[in-house]
Amino acid sequence: MRRIAFSALVLCVVSLQGCKATAPGKVEGAMMTKAKHTMFIGNKHASNPIPYSAQSVVDGKEAFSHYCVACHGMDGQNTGVPFADRMDPPVPSLASTDVQAYSDGQLKWVIDNGIAPSGMPTSKGILSDDEQWQIVLFLRHLPPAGSLGEPEMYGK
Ligand code: HEC
Repeated sequence: MRRIAFSALVLCVVSLQGCKATAPGKVEGAMMTKAKHTMFIGNKHASNPIPYSAQSVVDGKEAFSHYCVACHGMDGQNTGVPFADRMDPPVPSLASTDVQAYSDGQLKWVIDNGIAPSGMPTSKGILSDDEQWQIVLFLRHLPPAGSLGEPEMYGK
């Protein structure tokens, strides 16, 4: 039984590599995401100093609307962002289980530092620590996809 499970695993790995030749983006993306979670993104144990309240989520939404919306949409789920799928790696939905699996501290770290060399920029010098933590609260309480309309800048 063990043996079967093991060969299934090998098959899996081999076929993943098979995929890699045809669709490098997807497979590498998934592997990168794993690698990022385990070793790259710091600040895992920091907790959010801003207590939850309806008002702090609104504040987070406001801070988010300054420039995150250009790539992540008003709702953090890419609504109305024309190039979201074409970036490499693509812009993820911030409501996805992968993103929500980060700790609050890690989300803050991502916002603060960005992810080089992908398109995710740093917020250093643009957003204060408080604003970044408010955004983390907003990310934990994202509205339903599409409910906030589309970013104005794309003029639809
Ligand atoms: C220029 C486009 C752009 C802007 C502006 C932008 N992001 Fe991103 N963001 C990305 C891309 C592309 C990724 C995917 C990066 C990756 O997987 O390496 C990403 C990923 C993320 C992630 C998930 C990271 C992960 O490892 O999965 C979070 C959280 C995030 N962004 C939050 C924000 C917040 C909050 C802001 C505003 C302060 C913001 N982003 C501004 C493009 C952008």
